[in-house]
Amino acid sequence: ESLKIVLIGETSVGKTSIICQFIDQVFQADQQSTIGGTFSTKKIKCSNGKIIKLEIWDTAGQERYRSVTKMFYKDANVAILVYDITSKYSFEELKRYWVEQVIESAPKDIILAIIANKYDLLEKEKVDEEEAREYAAKINAMFAVTSAKNNSGINDLFIEIAKKYTGAESAVTVEEKDESEEYRKIRKESVKITK
Ligand code: GTP
Ligand code: MG
Repeated sequence: ESLKIVLIGETSVGKTSIICQFIDQVFQADQQSTIGGTFSTKKIKCSNGKIIKLEIWDTAGQERYRSVTKMFYKDANVAILVYDITSKYSFEELKRYWVEQVIESAPKDIILAIIANKYDLLEKEKVDEEEAREYAAKINAMFAVTSAKNNSGINDLFIEIAKKYTGAESAVTVEEKDESEEYRKIRKESVKITK
């Protein structure tokens, strides 16, 4: 069984960085802005013995790609709406645009999660966390704080989502290299040989 998860939100809030931490445990301070969309997978084993494959879609937050992002909502089970705690604008746009777009274009039973990212920059916080929590409760969304830089809150986030989806009491991630990673390794090696 697989679970399709789509990450959305303004450019630079940290969508790609959250996924990179979850999949590869790496953080890049100079992470490139995403063009179009890509997906990665990771398996989660639930306490009821069920293994589910998370299919995590990264989308582009830049305004010029907005019409493209809508295509990724097809058959999505979960939408993760990310804002940056140091950017009031990213939270305002989340409320004004992204939530509306999901409600309009995604399946009606989609699970919503609002993520307050860049928690390591708490001293520069511009969005009141309590207000964000209340907003999440109002639209019936999960709420979590994360730091892609410190890798905090991210694993828990995906575990909570898997639990909510399956109804399992607990769940753990399964560490294994998937085909695309294997392929990447092979490609890297062939580059070395060419050199
Ligand atoms: P688009 O692909 O343009 O939509 O942006 P994005 O949401 O994927 O953001 P991205 O992951 O590229 O991160 C943008 C910048 O913020 C990069 O310089 C990251 O290194 C930085 N960043 C991401 N997450 C964090 C975080 O938790 N803390 C800090 N301090 N920086 C972060
Ligand atoms: Mg990105």
